[in-house]
Formats: sequence, structure tokens, C-alpha cells
Amino acid sequence: MAKKLFIKTYGCQMNVYDSARMADVLAPLGYTAAAAAEDADMVILNTCHVREHAAEKVFSELGRLRQLKQAKAAAGSGLVIAVAGCVAQAEGDEILARAPFVDIVLGPQTYHRLAEMVARASRAGGRVLDTEFPIEPKFDHLPAPRADGPAAFLSVQEGCDKFCTFCVVPYTRGGEYSRPAAAILDEAGRLAEQGVREFTLLGQNVNAYHGAGADGGSWGLGRLIRALARLPGVERIRYTTSHPRDMDDDLIAAHRDVPGLMPFLHLPVQSGSDRILTAMNRQHGADDYRRLVDRLRAARPDLALSSDFIVGFPGETDTDFEATRRLIGQVGFAQAYSFKYSSRPGTPAAALPEQVPEAVKDQRLALLHGLIGEQAQAFNAACVGRSFPVLLDRPGRHPGQLLGRSPYMQSVFVTAPEAMLNTVQTLCVAAAYTNSLAAVIAPAEGDKEARACA
Ligand code: SAH
Ligand code: SF4
Ligand code: F3S
Repeated sequence: MAKKLFIKTYGCQMNVYDSARMADVLAPLGYTAAAAAEDADMVILNTCHVREHAAEKVFSELGRLRQLKQAKAAAGSGLVIAVAGCVAQAEGDEILARAPFVDIVLGPQTYHRLAEMVARASRAGGRVLDTEFPIEPKFDHLPAPRADGPAAFLSVQEGCDKFCTFCVVPYTRGGEYSRPAAAILDEAGRLAEQGVREFTLLGQNVNAYHGAGADGGSWGLGRLIRALARLPGVERIRYTTSHPRDMDDDLIAAHRDVPGLMPFLHLPVQSGSDRILTAMNRQHGADDYRRLVDRLRAARPDLALSSDFIVGFPGETDTDFEATRRLIGQVGFAQAYSFKYSSRPGTPAAALPEQVPEAVKDQRLALLHGLIGEQAQAFNAACVGRSFPVLLDRPGRHPGQLLGRSPYMQSVFVTAPEAMLNTVQTLCVAAAYTNSLAAVIAPAEGDKEARACA
């Protein structure tokens, strides 16, 4: 029987990937996508636990779903409510206790068993909690993925063994696991056959990748990227999120050697102060980061960087914060995210004395937002007059217009024939706005990668 499924996704790209895979798992049961929870027979909240704010949103959304379930019951229909993802993993028992109307609670490593859980929940009207870390990886049990447009996420690595002192991810996602290269190349090949041109390789620590290679040895991420770039149809490759400690020589060389590897790297550094980096257990110093950026830029001169910063980590002084501002000024980012430190239950940093007052965190966050915003504007402005390949993946707002992503993830709009939808085109950037670039199609003659803009 046809049934409708609505999935609401919070958190990182890994969750976006997982949500798509959960939809794949439920498709054989007759579930197709609903536009809103109101139209659905089943709702999944795929949750994030990384900051307090993210987890709170889940409980308020559950309040709304409870009312929806009551209204549907009064009208004689039902609603299956499932909570998945990292809050489910960390607080599964609490969700079941606090929200008796939730039918299923499942962690990020068990969703290949979701169909069975739905059957169990509906059969006895029983409730299901499945937050194990199974011995067998879920990837071995998932159906083949379906393409949804010309860009796709591809999970290559999961979990984390780094244990930064502020972070819940090692607890919610479990230990480090790398998928075998053959399985990844197979998934990529199938997606490329369906028209996918751009792949974003995903992992909590994607450059810690060390999967079994197609030749029997262990492959690093650089090796995997080279193999992927050789597959027919694969035009563009990105990867996220990287840890500075795991940028090895071969991966840096891949930025020099693989033209399809996009010159844009999200490389979180969190702080510019060595004292704070040590307290965070990041296992590198600020100068290590500066040197790494220099090596990356030497390998790929048009590389641009993005990063994550935490302000107000316990014990962070004005001097530490100044060091962060100095690092940002020296490196220069195309874009960056900054967050107020959020104390997470069970993490070592939560127990540290000297928690920073909220007002100080607010001040520092505003300063970083300002600084990063200026750098992003300057970066966008410097793109005017440059040409680069853009994946045109959506119709624009106005007729005759297409929208796409630059190598640097900027939104680019251009007047172009509809036949160019879902293709990569070389565009000249004509103007920069706060959140997008305007472009024109580059002249047809000349080198594809570097045609001069008139
Ligand atoms: N694996 C990635 C980050 C995953 S979490 C890495 O190592 O860089 C994404 C971002 O959330 C982190 O980079 C960090 O900036 C932020 N973050 C994680 N835990 C946080 C916390 N307790 N408070 C504030 N920000 C946090
Ligand atoms: Fe969290 Fe650190 Fe692992 Fe990133 S590397 S997921 S910040 S513990
Ligand atoms: Fe959030 Fe889990 Fe991703 S905590 S950031 S959804 S790994």
C-alpha cells in the first residue's frame, strides 16, 4: 500500500546522506516522500547532538509531532514517529521515557534494520529501541543508492577516534570505520551511470580514510580520489570533513595532480591558540596549521579554505582569542563557521573549571562573524573577472536562468539554455553579491579550464 514518509534532517552532511539511505531502506515497504509531516504516515527526525541548541530543537519538534499524532488518531489515521541520528544514540532511553508517543528510536549505525523495526512497531503496537554499534557495518546491508540530481554525497568513512575534549561525535557515531574501496567505487559507478557528475566524499574524519584497497593493500584518501577520478562520468570530487592531522603527503599531492578535485577545502582548526588547541586535544599547534595551508597552496595555487572555530572554550582568555583572530587574518578564509562553545554531557571539557561567561562568548562570536564575513565578501569580490567550471544543477528563479555551484561552493546564476541543466559549464563571473555570483557563459574558444573572460 502506498504510504508517505517525511524525514526532517538536522546536523551535518553525514546525516543528510543517512536520511537519503533511510528513505531507500523504506522504499520497498511502499513509502514515498511526503512534502510535510502533515501529509505523512511516518515521520523520522534525524537528529544532531553536537551542540546543546541542536539537541533542544529535537524535543520541541517532538512536542509538535505529538499534537499531529493526536489529531491524526482522532481522524482515524495513524502516524509512526521515529527518532534517528545522534540524539537518539546519546539519549535513546530518555527519549522513550520523556516522549511515550515515539514509536522507534534508532542510532546512526542501525538504520539498515529500519524496515524490520517498522514492522515490529506496528505489529504489537510495541516500541523499538535500537542503538547498538553492530559488528557488521550497515553498508553491507543497504540497497543500491538512487541518484537525486547531478551531485551526490558518498559516505566513505564514519566515526571518530580523535576524542577532541569538547566533542560528542566519537560517542554518538562510534569508532573509526573505513569502507572498502571496491564498495565505494561500485556505488560511485552506479550513481555516475544515473547522471551524477559531482561526488562529495563524506566522513567525520574523512581524511583518516584507510580502507581495504581494490588491490589488497590499504588505501588512503588520496589513492581513493585518484581511482574515483578515473571512473567514466565523474567530473568533480570534494571531501569533508578533514582533520589537519590527517592531511598526508599523498592527499596534498592529489590536490596538485587531480584536476577534478575541487580547489576548496573545509579544514577546521577551532582555535589559533596553542594552549587552547592542547586543551582541546587537537594534537597540533597553530603553526602546524599555517605550514599545512602553505603546502596545500603550493600544491594547488587556486585553493581556497573554509574552517570551523569555537569561541569560549573553557579557559580561553583574551590573549587566546587574539591568537585566533591573528590566525584568521593570516590564513584568509573564503568562508568559515564559528560557534560558541557548548558544554556537552560526558565530554572531558564539560568538567573543566573556568567555563567562559555567556556574554564573553557572545562578544567573541560577534567579532569572529564580522571578521569572517569581511573575508568572505573579499573572496567573492575577487572572483569577478575569473572563469571557472560551474555545475548547473537547478533552474533559476527567473525564466531562462540556471543556478549552479562554483568550485568554491558559491551559488552562481547565469542566463543559459535549459539543455545545459545538469552539466558543467565554464562561466565568467560578472558580479558578486552577498550570497551569490552572477555569471555569463565563457567564450567557446580556448582552453576549457582557463578561458579568459572578455
Ligand atoms: N570532525 C570535524 C568536526 C565535526 S563537528 C572536525 O574534527 O573538525 C562540526 C563542528 O562543530 C566542529 O568543527 C566544531 O567547530 C563544532 N563543535 C563540535 N562540538 C562543539 C561543542 N561542544 N561546542 C561548540 N562547537 C562544537
Ligand atoms: Fe569531534 Fe574532534 Fe572527532 Fe572532529 S576530530 S569529530 S571535532 S572528536
Ligand atoms: Fe551532529 Fe551527529 Fe553530525 S552530532 S554534526 S549529526 S555526526
